Amino acid sequence: MADGTDTKSSNQMWGGRFASGPAAIMEEINASIGFDKKLFAQDIRGSIAHAGMLAHQGIISTEDKDKIVHGLNTILSEIESGNFEFSRRLEDIHMNVEARLATLIGPAAGRLHTARSRNDQVALDFRLWVKEELQKCEQALTELMSAFLDRAEEHADSVMPGFTHLQTAQPVTFGHHCMAYVEMFGRDRSRVRHAIEHMDESPIGAAALAGTGFPIDRHMTAKALGFREPTRNSIDTVSDRDFALEFLSIAAIAGMHLSRLAEEIVIWSTPQFGFVRLSDAFSTGSSIMPQKKNPDAAELVRAKTGRINGSLVALLTIMKGLPLAYSKDMQEDKEQVFDAAESLELAIAAMTGMVRDMTINTARMKAAAGSGYSTATDLADWLVREAGLPFRDAHHVTGRAVALAESKSCDLAELSLEELQAIHPAITAKIFDVLTVEASVASRKSYGGTAPSEVRKQIAFWRARN
Ligand code: ARG
Repeated sequence: MADGTDTKSSNQMWGGRFASGPAAIMEEINASIGFDKKLFAQDIRGSIAHAGMLAHQGIISTEDKDKIVHGLNTILSEIESGNFEFSRRLEDIHMNVEARLATLIGPAAGRLHTARSRNDQVALDFRLWVKEELQKCEQALTELMSAFLDRAEEHADSVMPGFTHLQTAQPVTFGHHCMAYVEMFGRDRSRVRHAIEHMDESPIGAAALAGTGFPIDRHMTAKALGFREPTRNSIDTVSDRDFALEFLSIAAIAGMHLSRLAEEIVIWSTPQFGFVRLSDAFSTGSSIMPQKKNPDAAELVRAKTGRINGSLVALLTIMKGLPLAYSKDMQEDKEQVFDAAESLELAIAAMTGMVRDMTINTARMKAAAGSGYSTATDLADWLVREAGLPFRDAHHVTGRAVALAESKSCDLAELSLEELQAIHPAITAKIFDVLTVEASVASRKSYGGTAPSEVRKQIAFWRARN
């Protein structure tokens, strides 16, 4: 109407937004094109493989197949060059592509959907997408690990305090600390590799849920699309979103690792700690406090992890009540995965940059490593090793030495031999060899320990594995 009121609207509150009441709302809630257009390349690749198989099996003519493939390639370049008009009326990427194919090649387009359904089509497209995303993650994690390996090598001997309860515990090396992250991201990477293997089965040909009466060759399409083999059960195939959940679980665990690292960077870069200095590239200033250098990138990595966790819980919740086989609820899987993938990729890339760029203040780390009686365990171990004391007794003697040092406000190494001998007569001047932080870390040569020689072995192990 000329005055802007729409008499067809059924509701005064929201009617103005919709051209024709319920039907328009249906279109809005039903359409997925707004986000699933991301799957265009996978959709076209899947359709080309399907058409090739249909022709090979004599289900469609070679002529029609050629037209279909040509048309699909045209659509691919139209989308890639931004010359494709997506329509919400056509609901999703599958129908947008198919409708355009009909305009381009006419009736032959109608033969493409023989022996398949959007149910197996979407399962295929999404699996292909997640598989590619996992391959990107594998690469990104490898780069992050390599950044850590370089820093570990450079700092295999740099002493820092090791913490438990965020209280100074024992001296460790910064190289060893870096290698802890290599182990974590190495496990994330092997989870990624395992998931790729796990989901390497082709859904296409499961059709709506029951398979098809057409003489299709699912092994052929599986091979053409780079899958190891076709899935075995058509009902499971169109119902399963485990592959997306596996991606989200892996992302959540990797995100948790990234977030712990982010938290450490936030702490380490405070003036109070001063262990690291972030490069300008990965920090920001304050608009009011000129002295500030904020670790925004690390904080955002920490926050992105919350988002990824949300996506995992959202999809688990979407799936948990669904009877077999396909239900439209499953259309809501994509945004969660797309959002988590973007967050994870960004977080890994930002962390790789921060780790490569940050300056390590080895003097600050070393000074902190020596405070808080961090070599007390070394003193106790020495009493066990050199004086034959049971560990529990040695622990008690050491406790008295710490109390004495505390009362004098000095380090353990600053106590005199006489003072130490007054606590336990078996102590000799040799004790001073183990009370320095360097001696402490050098002595921890057990497999996987913090001694520089051990850390170098760990580095060599991972370099050979990359
Ligand atoms: N857009 C849909 C999705 O993402 C495609 C599958 C639709 N299938 C159906 N039977 N309506 O799940």
